[in-house]
Amino acid sequence: MQVGIDKIGFYTPNKYVDMVDLANARNEDPNKFLIGIGQEKMSVADETQDAVSMGINATLDYLDEIDKDKVGLMIFGTESSVDQSKSASLFVKTALKLPPEVRTFEVKEACFGLTAALMMATDFVRLHPKQTAIVIGSDIARYGINTSGEVTQGAGSISMLIKVDPSILSLNEGHSAYSDDINDFWRPNNSKTALVDGKYSTQVYLDFFTKTFEDYKKQKHLQTSDFDALIYHLPFTKMGLKANRLALADQNEAISEKLGQSFEASKHLSANVGNIYTASLYLSLLSLLQNGELKANDLIGLFSYGSGAMAEFFTGNVVEGFKKQLRPEKVQARLEARTKLTVPEYEAIFTKALADPIEGKELDSDEKPGTWYFAGVKDGIRLYKMK
Ligand code: COA
Repeated sequence: MQVGIDKIGFYTPNKYVDMVDLANARNEDPNKFLIGIGQEKMSVADETQDAVSMGINATLDYLDEIDKDKVGLMIFGTESSVDQSKSASLFVKTALKLPPEVRTFEVKEACFGLTAALMMATDFVRLHPKQTAIVIGSDIARYGINTSGEVTQGAGSISMLIKVDPSILSLNEGHSAYSDDINDFWRPNNSKTALVDGKYSTQVYLDFFTKTFEDYKKQKHLQTSDFDALIYHLPFTKMGLKANRLALADQNEAISEKLGQSFEASKHLSANVGNIYTASLYLSLLSLLQNGELKANDLIGLFSYGSGAMAEFFTGNVVEGFKKQLRPEKVQARLEARTKLTVPEYEAIFTKALADPIEGKELDSDEKPGTWYFAGVKDGIRLYKMK
């Protein structure tokens, strides 16, 4: 039985900062941000967009095309949670009008959260082939103004429908996982911004990539040359480039060119949206599917990494006709419709969004009609509305 990704929805907020402007404001050489880090733009969430509203908006991309009564499971992966107890997915379930019989909850392991959700959803569909599952990754990466991590911020969400006989990517059984209790990136309960040891995190990411990639190839009797694309969790695109260089270290020119080109295709969206934590690997997948030269049955290797740290390497095969399921014009239109912020404007929006919402104060959104947003807190309860 083939199980995998049948639909992909994407959302990113309607504002961004250009990395050249940010570099100039921080007295850095723009090429450090553009080439050294590999980022061009980063989306900025104002106080009216949070993990919940972005997750709703990403899922709305394909909701009209699915049978809601068949959805038996919905899992929400995030590290930008809005409540310590209630799952973000319950707000989403209400907004999307999913049936009450759906099993739904939130998961957390840094940027690994959406992969954890995807793996559980895949197993669920294998056991319940008549049902489908929705998995959502939604995050706002915040390190803080004038920090070294600032250039690797971003905001957005990816939502996917998982089902039997998928029309985009068929996921292969088996995986290679690796975990260790380390302190490379974390966000304590009393902090709205993340703490990170970025250089250590990069080392661990590369180490876990090598371990899981080599182990997976051994398990499945595969060579690097068998892959048509390798894609990575991209907190900033240079990190994935470093992993791709490791993968290609002992390969001939033809393989290096093929996997080099597919990496270029996979990084385009992340370079223009920034880090979206749980959803970053799947933003790379969307970018590859839209921009790469893929054909039916091509083998894609996916490397997922969540700080703390947990990594997994797994694979999927591209399904015939996958292009028809994508909406590249819509993705492009969403990116182009974003308003460019000056650095002082971004700083003001960033600071305001970090503050706790004022009880009873209703918020309005400047997003286009049909977009969901966080409308404020009344009697201690978070309210979500559609513009
Ligand atoms: N032109 C081109 N490249 C330049 C440059 C220039 N003018 N100036 C610097 N660079 C390169 C550096 O050589 C370096 O490349 P390398 O990584 O290949 O060695 C890169 O730019 C970054 O420079 P560096 O001095 O290391 O930057 P930094 O101290 O500001 O830190 C990060 C960069 C990425 C470590 C920091 O932004 C960070 O911690 N981000 C968060 C990372 C994260 O999210 N981790 C956890 C998620 S898995």
